[in-house]
Amino acid sequence: MGSVLKPLVVERIDKDENVLGDEESRIGVLVDNCESVNRENLDGGQEVEIISPKREESEVEKEAWKLLNDAVVTYCGSPVGTVAANDPGDKMPLNYDQVFIRDFVPSALAFLLRGEGEIVKNFLLHTLQLQSWEKTVDCYSPGQGLMPASFKVRAVPLDDNKFEEVLDPDFGESAIGRVAPVDSGLWWIILLRAYGKLTGDYALQERVDVQTGIKLILKLCLTDGFDMFPSLLVTDGSCMIDRRMGIHGHPLEIQCSCEALFYSALRCSREMIVVNDGSKNLVKAINNRLSALSFHIREYYWVDMNKINEIYRYKTEEYSTEATNKFNIYPEQIPSWLMDWIPEEGGYMIGNLQPAHMDFRFFTLGNLWSVVSSLGTPKHNEAILNLIEAKWDDLVGNMPLKICYPALEREDWRIITGSDPKNTPWSYHNGGSWPTLLWQFTLACIKMDRVELAQKAIALAEKRLQVDHWPEYYDTRTGKFIGKQSRLYQTWTVAGFLTSKILLENTQRASLLFWDEDYELLEFCVCGLKKSGRKRCSRGAAKSQILV
Ligand code: GLC
Repeated sequence: MGSVLKPLVVERIDKDENVLGDEESRIGVLVDNCESVNRENLDGGQEVEIISPKREESEVEKEAWKLLNDAVVTYCGSPVGTVAANDPGDKMPLNYDQVFIRDFVPSALAFLLRGEGEIVKNFLLHTLQLQSWEKTVDCYSPGQGLMPASFKVRAVPLDDNKFEEVLDPDFGESAIGRVAPVDSGLWWIILLRAYGKLTGDYALQERVDVQTGIKLILKLCLTDGFDMFPSLLVTDGSCMIDRRMGIHGHPLEIQCSCEALFYSALRCSREMIVVNDGSKNLVKAINNRLSALSFHIREYYWVDMNKINEIYRYKTEEYSTEATNKFNIYPEQIPSWLMDWIPEEGGYMIGNLQPAHMDFRFFTLGNLWSVVSSLGTPKHNEAILNLIEAKWDDLVGNMPLKICYPALEREDWRIITGSDPKNTPWSYHNGGSWPTLLWQFTLACIKMDRVELAQKAIALAEKRLQVDHWPEYYDTRTGKFIGKQSRLYQTWTVAGFLTSKILLENTQRASLLFWDEDYELLEFCVCGLKKSGRKRCSRGAAKSQILV
């Protein structure tokens, strides 16, 4: 296993891409030790208002703030992130002592909502510099826009008994299973936008090196390949679920923790990219993709009772562009649990779609982000929350929220997870309950005017998290037990709880973090069929049914 990490080799950047017109801007902002840090850039954050809570904080909240502050990692004397877990009893922290990009998001929001922008700005700029490192895994170099899954601050000994601090990123070359963190770059973009919205410091996103960072991430996501769909093709385990769980292909977790995140990141980029001659093609590509992606997901990922009934009566082997059953789904594939489970009210986005295969599992993160980003229509979004309410015992139970439903059992578990003992049925990624999903649920509830649901979930969490020492996840069908191999004092559990509380008290500010339906995007279709008049544009035909 060869793993070479070094800072950016500028010549590697592909010059013929419009996207990367301003690569020179990167030179000079690289940091590989404290001396070269451009302090002005890092610490010169705009003054922000410190928001104090409107009421006395509960003991649980006080402990949570203390734990969050204790989890802060500094680099050259400045805060740059939070460790994934800070469990004093843990003798084998593996990589939980690192700053994970995705895990830091709720910490960042808690800090931002409290009025502390510096740590988030530092995090964004330092991870940006890591992005430009050249990385190789067994002599193969993944794309330059890749953001690491995590990083660590290491003390490297110098000659005269002194130490120098360096940031050491993991792009997947050390991660268990060597999985690529596809979601890191998407989260980075989402956080960059949130930072601007919550601090009013838009200068950061306008910086040339930051603009280049956004473009590099988008370049990776928008590159042409063999793909037939606008959804992002990803490998298994390249998101929050970072182990084999049968979510390769086009999972809602990219679209599911991943197309919904992809969609959100595209919406953020559209707002942040400075439009000029060098970027106008990229902006066009973003608009096209957003519009095609929302159509694709709304049309093919959405299920409710009616849709399942439609699939149940599907004809198969239809050869033509006019086919109803475009993916050749055999009705026998509808799992028996779903026939009983699907409520009359509500619906959801399925986990994945591939030729002849629909993964009907409910993935919480993808569905919540469909609501938050308006990847779903207003009706879909309402229906997703209706389903969570109707299926409360299954999806919330004793601890919000189940990462996916249902669990893979028996042969499915053996074949799909590769007999992973951590992912046994109703544990960890395979149907475990993850308190960090709470803040995203809260955001979705605020958006859809269903705060009573969020309050109910937060109350459950508040009752148990402190007593149980802030576990990473819970096990069993109803989330009754602390997870088998769960870390304690898991930072995104702590931060997710705090962020949920603050969001609920500041719904006005929460609204800066979600998106409404964008009607302009819906009007947009680039297929050109309308003009030629030879065939009907399938999107045009279907639009009437999916718009509202
Ligand atoms: C686990 C989770 C991943 C998280 C990491 C650190 O690997 O699957 O989503 O980022 O732990 O908490």
